[in-house]
This record gives sequence, C-alpha cells and structure tokens, in this order.
Amino acid sequence: MTPADRPRAFLCRRFTPAVETALHARFALQLNEDDSILASAEIARRAHGSEVLFVSATEAVDAATIAQLAPTLRTIATLSVGHDHIDLAAARAAGVRVLHTPDVLSDACAEIALMLLLNACRRGFEADRLVRSGAWAGWAPTQLLGMGLVGRRLGIFGMGRIGRAIAVRARAFGLQIHYHNRSRLDAAQEEGATYHATLDCLLAASDILMVAAPGAPSLRGTFDAQRLALLPEGAVVVNISRGDLIDDAALIAALQSGRVRGAGLDVFANEPNVHPGYRALDNVFLSPHIGSATHETRDAMGWLLIRGIEALARGETPDNLLS
Ligand code: DGY
Repeated sequence: MTPADRPRAFLCRRFTPAVETALHARFALQLNEDDSILASAEIARRAHGSEVLFVSATEAVDAATIAQLAPTLRTIATLSVGHDHIDLAAARAAGVRVLHTPDVLSDACAEIALMLLLNACRRGFEADRLVRSGAWAGWAPTQLLGMGLVGRRLGIFGMGRIGRAIAVRARAFGLQIHYHNRSRLDAAQEEGATYHATLDCLLAASDILMVAAPGAPSLRGTFDAQRLALLPEGAVVVNISRGDLIDDAALIAALQSGRVRGAGLDVFANEPNVHPGYRALDNVFLSPHIGSATHETRDAMGWLLIRGIEALARGETPDNLLS
C-alpha cells in the first residue's frame, strides 16, 4: 500500500512507540501530539475525515461525535477493555464498528488488584510513609498491625476474565473465593469458588470485596451506603473496575468510622479529579488507573486493535469486535 492509499486515522492519545510505529506504517495517521485528554467536540473537529478513530478510556465518544464523524468513520478502536465511554448504540446505528482489548490485559489488571488488596490489608500507604518521612523509630511488636489473608473470604463482583485471573492469584495467598456474576460459571471456570446468586448475599460473605465487573451506566452507584453496610465489620474494599460503581461519600464515611477497615482503589469517579476525602485518609491505598500499565500489555493491546482492523478489512469478524 502506498502512503497515499493508506486509510486516514486519528490517534487521540499517544500509544507505545512500537504500536505507533506500526500504526504509521498502516495509516495516514494524525496524532494528538501532546497526549492531552480531548473533549468530544475537539475529537469531532480533529478527527474529521478519518476512517479509524483510536481512543482510550479517557475519551467520551458520544452520539454527537459519532454523528459528526459518521460520513467517513468506519471503526472506533479503544485501547481498553472497558467501553462505557463509547455510545455503542449510536455507533451501531451509524454502521461504525467498535473494537476493544479484552484478554491481553487480564493478568496485568489482576496483578494490580492484588497490589491494592495487599496494600489495603497490610497498610501499605502508612508503612511507606513511616519509612519515607524519617519518623520510623524502629521495629515494635504492635506497629502497623494489618489483616492476614489466610482463610479470609474474597468476594469478587464480576467473575469474568479479569475476575478469574484475580482468583487464581488470590488462592495462592490462602483466600477462599466467593463471587457474584450475572450467571453462574461452569465448574471448570469456578475452580471451587462459591457462587452467590445475589450481590447482597456476596457482600455479607466478603471479608474483602473485589470490584472487578466491567463498567456500565447501569452499575453506577451500586456500592452505596446500604450495600456497604452489608459487608462484615472491618471488611476491605478494592476497586479495579470503574470508579463510579462506588458511592464515594458512602465509602469515605465507612473508612472514617473504621466499619470498612481499608480500601485499595485504582479507579475513580470523574478521573482525574479524585474525591478529596480519599486523600485525607490513611487507610486507603490509591493508584492512578494503572491496571493494564505494563510495557508488554500496552503493546499487546495496541496490536490487538491493529489485528482487529486488519481482520475487518478482510471481511472477518475479530473476537474483539464489540459492535
Ligand atoms: C480498561 O482497559 O478498561 C482499563 O480500565 C484502561 O482503560
């Protein structure tokens, strides 16, 4: 394909160097050079005339944006497994295909889930601060006592690919796996985990709650004060899904009172504007949405999108096609 024949594409965020090189070889590529987060109207303006729009979870691709780009747009490719930022119905109606990046990030996300879990249970933020601040006066028998994991119940909300990758790792720490999903897994995928038909039932059985369900408008605010009150006293909450599943004010109040012992959060409502209440708390471990942030994973995510676009061009249906 000569450069003049290449389809026009717009890249909303900077991808890894290897992926950008591959994109340049295949597309007449326009970049958002400074990697800023673009508002929807700006995406519509800058991607005008593109056949392919590369986005990530930071770009809201709404119906208006799709309508403006629809005359030329064929594919939206998002460097994320989550797709709650894209109006899939509008894309479908406009005949625009949407690709995402499942599977290749499950291990990386599970690693961060365990990082959050361990830090929340074993007081990672306070421990780091004690050493870093120079305030540590030396070992003490009752210093920074945390919650041990062996024999505790880990309640996973969302036992999809990421939830199951978390379960594999959690078992190695001696945790008992409980879960709630829209439907029960088969025995091979369950691997001895206990299924709860309702979320409320799962909450009552969770010493540690792991929120791993895909983000969706219908799940916003799922973990409100009433639901959090169903957790056992002193439970731990971890979220690697989407921030808006949790009612921040309710979780902050539970962390302040100690009813929830600790939390580990990688995702937040209204990112990057984290609820200020979290910053004031010692019993919460915070990370900036880095679930899939490894070199290997971000390369693999980019290649999955490229392969998906190539499959569509051959008239095939790639596994990572959403609509
Ligand atoms: C995802 O893939 O959905 C991650 O949250 C990064 O956006």
